[in-house]
Amino acid sequence: IKKIGVFTSGGDSPGMNAAIRSVVRTCAYLKIECVGIYRGYQGMIEGDFKTLDARSVNNIINKGGTILKSARCEEFRTKQGRQKAYDQLIKEGIDAFVVIGGNGSFHGAMLFNQEFGFPVMGIPGTIDNDILGTSYTLGFDTAINTVVEAVDKIRDTASSHNRLFFVEVMGRDVGHIALNAGVGAGAEEILIPEQNLGLERLLESLKRSKASGKSSSIVIVAEGDRTGKNVFELKEYVEQHLPIYDVRVSVLGHMQRGGNPTCYDRVLASRMGVKAVESLLEGKSNYMVGIRDTKLVLTPIADAIKAHTEIDEELLRVSDIMTT
Ligand code: F6P
Repeated sequence: IKKIGVFTSGGDSPGMNAAIRSVVRTCAYLKIECVGIYRGYQGMIEGDFKTLDARSVNNIINKGGTILKSARCEEFRTKQGRQKAYDQLIKEGIDAFVVIGGNGSFHGAMLFNQEFGFPVMGIPGTIDNDILGTSYTLGFDTAINTVVEAVDKIRDTASSHNRLFFVEVMGRDVGHIALNAGVGAGAEEILIPEQNLGLERLLESLKRSKASGKSSSIVIVAEGDRTGKNVFELKEYVEQHLPIYDVRVSVLGHMQRGGNPTCYDRVLASRMGVKAVESLLEGKSNYMVGIRDTKLVLTPIADAIKAHTEIDEELLRVSDIMTT
């Protein structure tokens, strides 16, 4: 392998730049050429490439977003689209690529590898932390810290006005952001897709918490929760059935995807970038670099995309106890 392509794909996440920097610098260190592919698979199909050297990635370890831009690409889902992408890579002399992204991006990489025997390596980059084979995805730590900071601020108003707030957080179909940030921010209730205890229980719990002397409450709602009601409908429901509360809603939205990565995400990205390039050079392909028990591990991409990571049962129990 003489020339490695690197790109970001799918939703951006803090730490992607640190991972790009790591891949580029590892290539420079090992005297291999590195090419940045812009706008994910879309840029690959269009041949939107730029050679990157160690100096091209100065001062980006601290930045959110991705200097290579990102996209979700419909054309790459087709055989013709992937053929175009392959032709562009061969024309540019790229021998292998590192994809930084989530489930959809990995699925594309796996197909590409199977069809053309092209060496690929994945680095998990998504705030959702939903990829099997790694305890952390890049951006998750930053996102939960962003949520905790926002909820701390909302709590000031909640407690000053004796209000109940429903705070909607991201996470697509999983509740990892909600559960972790909810415990970290001391939320009274956390609604996640993995555990639907029903609206009755929510009312009971809010009643109990008021009776026990709490004057304000924060309920964290994962965007994918399965109560069948969105945060605005939950507000109406509680206002109707429990008029003791003055209720407000806050949807945190895309602010959760931005901002400077935490030190944890920067270090993890740096480690994963080195591992991804070294693994390709060792002849490994079609794997994702992950972290388990502080050690970096490789998981076949086919396994990583099989299912979502399960919710942490122990943390669920902790959250139940903390809301007493
Ligand atoms: O996968 C990351 C994520 O931010 C999810 O948490 C969220 O459901 C989705 O992307 C939002 O996607 P978009 O930026 O396309 O609205």
